[in-house]
This record gives sequence, C-alpha cells and structure tokens, in this order.
Amino acid sequence: MQRARITGTGGFLPETVWTNAKLESIMDTSDEWIRKRTGIGQRHLAAAGEGSSDMGTPAARDALAHAGVAPEEVDLIICCTTMPDYLFPATACLIQDRIGARNAGAFDVNAACSGFVCGLASANAYIRSGVYRTVVVVGAESQTNRLNWEKRDTAVLFGDGAGAVVLQAEDGDRGILSTFLGSDGSGGDLLIIPAGGSKAPVTKENAGGPECDIQMKGAELFKQATALFEEASTKALELAGLSLEDVDVFVPHQANARIIGAAAKRLGLPDEKVVMNIERVANTTSASIPLALHEAVAGGRVTEGDTVLLASFGAGLTWGAAVIRW
Ligand code: COA
Repeated sequence: MQRARITGTGGFLPETVWTNAKLESIMDTSDEWIRKRTGIGQRHLAAAGEGSSDMGTPAARDALAHAGVAPEEVDLIICCTTMPDYLFPATACLIQDRIGARNAGAFDVNAACSGFVCGLASANAYIRSGVYRTVVVVGAESQTNRLNWEKRDTAVLFGDGAGAVVLQAEDGDRGILSTFLGSDGSGGDLLIIPAGGSKAPVTKENAGGPECDIQMKGAELFKQATALFEEASTKALELAGLSLEDVDVFVPHQANARIIGAAAKRLGLPDEKVVMNIERVANTTSASIPLALHEAVAGGRVTEGDTVLLASFGAGLTWGAAVIRW
C-alpha cells in the first residue's frame, strides 16, 4: 500500500533569545511564575521585518536537504501559519519562490496551534489518493512582533520559529498510518484576535487597542486542552488499529508543560516517551510540532520502526492527531 512517509525534517529559530529574566525587566512578571505555570524558560524572537516566510524558507530547505529531494521535485507546499507575511499572497507562495520549487502548487492553512496536524492530514490525503508524490508541509510563525508586551497573561507564552517535513509517496508500511481532526467553533472566543480581519478591520479608532491583541481565557483553555489531547490521540490510534502501549514517541503541541504533563498522565505515557522543548522555545503555535519533531529526529530520539504520535489543540477550537510508523 502506498503511504506518505516523512523522509526529511527541518527547523529554524531566529537568533534573538529573550529569557524570562529579560521579561522581568520589561513587565510585572517573574521567572518563577512563568516556569511554574508554563515550563517556559526562554523564547526566540524574530527581528523587525522578519516574517513567517523568512523562517519557513530555511526550515523547508533544511527538510529538503535531509530528504535528499530537489526543489523541482516538490508537487505541493502547504504552509501552516496564523501569522502570514501578508493577508495575501499566501506565505506558502513566498516560500515556493525562495526555495525554487517551480513545479509546486502552494497554499496556506490556518488552524492555529493545530495547523501543522491539519496540513499533514491534507498532505497525507493528497499522497494516499495518488494526486501528488512529494509534499512539503511547513509550520512557520513570526508572532512576537505582534505581541503586546504590556499584556503579561499572553506575552510570556509565545515564541517564533519554523519546522518543516518532506512527505513522499512510498510503498510499504512505513509512513502516516492515520490522522484525526476535530473542531468546535463555539469555543472561538477562548483564544482570538478580534480585529484585523474582515469582520472588524483595523481602523484609526481601534488600532493599538485591546481588540488588536490576543484575547485568551487561559484557565478554560487549559481544562479543554488535556481532554482534547486525549480524545485526538485515542481516536487517531484507533484509526491506525493501535493502542497507547504501541506508542514509542509522543510529540504534543508545546503550549504549556503542565498541559503536556497532564495529558501524558491521562494517556498513561511515561516522561521518557514525551518530547518537550517548550523550556527553550515557548509556544510557537503552528511551528511547535514540526520543530519538536525535527529536534527529536535530529537528536536520535526517533528511530526507524518507531510509532510516533503527534497531537495538538488550539484556537478554533481545533484539535487533531497523527500516528506515524517511522
Ligand atoms: N506573570 C505573573 N503573574 C501573572 C502573569 C504573568 N505573566 N500572568 C497572569 N498572572 C497573574 C494573574 O493576574 C493572576 O493574578 P490574580 O490571582 O492576582 O488575579 C494570577 O497570575 C493567576 O492567573 P491565572 O490566569 O489564573 O493563572 P493560571 O494558573 O490559569 O495560568 C496560564 C495562566 C495562561 C499559564 C494557563 O491558564 C494556561 O497555560 N492556559 C492555557 C493557555 C494556552 O495553552 N494557550 C495557547 C493555546 S494553543
């Protein structure tokens, strides 16, 4: 059976690093509060004018190099981002041009922190159906330039970066075994930037006001997140005909170390199977899973034959999971 196998992974983090100590110097917060509540110790920050495509491009190049795939061989580029360079054109097109993928289609996916799992599910469907043979899925987020550093409840949580994977059609039993996606738009107000879209464009009156910032009901999201991780994971495993005991490596969306810990506990997955890089990179939204996966692969934590479980939840609400035989 033809499957979509991940043949290369890549990552990129911008140069500037802000530790929690740096945040202590610009807002009323503390290293202790941030670490205790979230597990975050530092985050990477894009430079002024450094957009999501500037991060997605090197991540995609890195993944192609690891896969040994030439840009001309790519059939499709999917860029998962909540912070596109522009409202349009799509960030995927900017990446397509810069990596020289002249035979590829390109489009963006916005499903917030579940974006990468949605992009991966789409790529898998294209490959399984025989439409495409080589797809690059990028998660790229340049989001700190838009953060309000006076809003400590959200500013401490996020960081910038990108991750990418190359998926290729291959006969055999390695590759993506299943994907599961869920959504519940009635929870849209739990995490939202109200202004800047078609419903409430940025105007002279609201510019710089609270409507242009991230508005988050943190405690409610926290509650939902652990249950949604569990639901997505068990459903994807069921679709793959596997159980939680079969999982060798769990790569969850990196929103909060306490959420990941609680979800892993509910799933009965021991710490040594859980990949966590939130201490170094914070929540990079759509980039979080591909970046953590790339680091796990590069660090030798994922090896051939492993069963890898990816799981996410995020604004929307959205949630999803994928099961991969490496
Ligand atoms: N530094 C110091 N104090 C802070 C703070 C900060 N950065 N942010 C909030 N506080 C304060 C609050 O003002 C509040 O003070 P009060 O009790 O005097 O009113 C106190 O800390 C507790 O705030 P609360 O929001 O109840 O904390 P919490 O335990 O719920 O933790 C989050 C807050 C955001 C860490 C937690 O709710 C969370 O992680 N939620 C999920 C968020 C998420 O995952 N978002 C992305 C989804 S993909």
